[in-house]
Amino acid sequence: MENHSRRSFLYSLSMLAAGTALTSPLYGFSTTKKLKLVLVGTGVRGISFWGKRLLEQYPDKLEFVGLCDINPGRVAYAKKFMGASCPTFTDFDKMIKEQKPDLIIVTTKDAVHHEYIIKGLKYGCDVLTEKPLTIDEDKCQQILAAERASNKKLIVGFNYRWGPYVTKIKELLAEGAIGEITSVDFNWYLNTHHGASYFRRWHGLMNGGGSLWVHKATHHFDLLNWWLDSDPEEVFAYGALEHYGKNGPFRSKNCRSCDHKKDCKYYWDITKSDHDMRLYVDNEKYDGYLRDACLFRNEIDIYDKMSAQIRYANKAVVNYSLTTYSPFEGWRLAFNGQKGRIEAWTDIPFFKNENLSQAELHAAEMNQNLKEDTAVEPVILFKNWENFKTINVTSERGGHGGGDKRLHDKIFVNPNAADPLKHSAGVRDGVMSVLIGVAARKSIQTGQPIKIANLTDLKPSANRV
Ligand SMILES: NC(=O)c1ccc[n+]([C@@H]2O[C@H](COP(=O)([O-])OP(=O)(O)OC[C@H]3O[C@@H](n4cnc5c(N)ncnc54)[C@H](O)[C@@H]3O)[C@@H](O)[C@H]2O)c1
Repeated sequence: MENHSRRSFLYSLSMLAAGTALTSPLYGFSTTKKLKLVLVGTGVRGISFWGKRLLEQYPDKLEFVGLCDINPGRVAYAKKFMGASCPTFTDFDKMIKEQKPDLIIVTTKDAVHHEYIIKGLKYGCDVLTEKPLTIDEDKCQQILAAERASNKKLIVGFNYRWGPYVTKIKELLAEGAIGEITSVDFNWYLNTHHGASYFRRWHGLMNGGGSLWVHKATHHFDLLNWWLDSDPEEVFAYGALEHYGKNGPFRSKNCRSCDHKKDCKYYWDITKSDHDMRLYVDNEKYDGYLRDACLFRNEIDIYDKMSAQIRYANKAVVNYSLTTYSPFEGWRLAFNGQKGRIEAWTDIPFFKNENLSQAELHAAEMNQNLKEDTAVEPVILFKNWENFKTINVTSERGGHGGGDKRLHDKIFVNPNAADPLKHSAGVRDGVMSVLIGVAARKSIQTGQPIKIANLTDLKPSANRV
């Protein structure tokens, strides 16, 4: 604990005087020699964002020396799709021992992130994991122990933090534009394309992604923790499964084999995508993973309606909700401060004069190649006793609002650059965002508020360390 506190202290110092201290999770990757990377979990996120994009954007900075997945067919396709020249593996230990990477990128399904994070740190490698860090409190504790025992970096790929729009909000809060924050309203709406997509796959099972309280809301809770610059202290939540899973009017194994193609609004024809066919369908024979599984199947055991109250160590309280079958995708946010209020929202179609198809908007958000396609969204700054001001922020539509590429640039191009708004995320950020979701699950199960301090040995702090 002692050692960890000291490291956390040094880490905060590095945030104040970035470029001089050595402990920021993004600090210190070599800018002169090529980084040797391996990637484990060659699904869509791994091979596109962490695979093909890295190879295309940073050929002088890095090279892949291994790709690994439990599915031999998928890992073989991954290599072709990425245009990589490295060997492929189905045995992670063999890959690490033979290839001796500098950095391991973990993009498997959520439930097994911890296995590769812990092994990777033990092997003496830096590790970068996709969100969520992991799916429950015991695994959080195991990861904390492994990180403390190692002298290597563990980075959590919180891309949302890096978008210009959320960064503008952080800037306003950090400069005290509305004084001390007392409460927050945060509502996130997933539409019938994006929201539904989680119920088609492993995300629909509690033991796959820890429910959307963890898999999806980890992004939102991380933003809240970062914006408020405080740790969460206590969570009370409600949740239910009322739309997908057992609630469907009919069900099948998957869309391809379904007798209700014509009647089902959610029918999704995976055969129309050559990429999805090669990545998933061609490799079902190895592991039975159905990418187009029925979202009304009875085994789905996560919530599709979620609502929580979170009290922070700095006394701010948050009202949060997540909807998974909204006709539009977007979010709304308001901060109440002692000196005013900030209102923010993105993609609310009736707030702007455009009516883009929801399917296209979702495809654009995931796309890594939409450099020129931008959107302007307002942030409203309303100080008490004054007129409100509208601050227009331009963001990219692609790559999660421009967050994706800025995260990459920070890690691989400017690892030693100053980080005045504390964008870089490490293990404590990863754990704290997961624990809000874990606490929400426990609160629903017990009907009681849950204290974050009782979940791991991290004690919530009013000022993030
Ligand atoms: N930050 C973001 O915005 C963002 C976006 C999408 C996905 N993600 C994250 O990326 C990760 C992958 O998501 P995806 O959509 O690519 O999922 P996916 O299902 O397409 O890929 C997951 C891969 O993990 C492999 N896998 C499963 N169990 C394994 C094991 N025990 N060992 C090794 N490999 C194993 C599967 O075979 C599959 O290839 C998830 O953690 C997800 O949360 C993050």
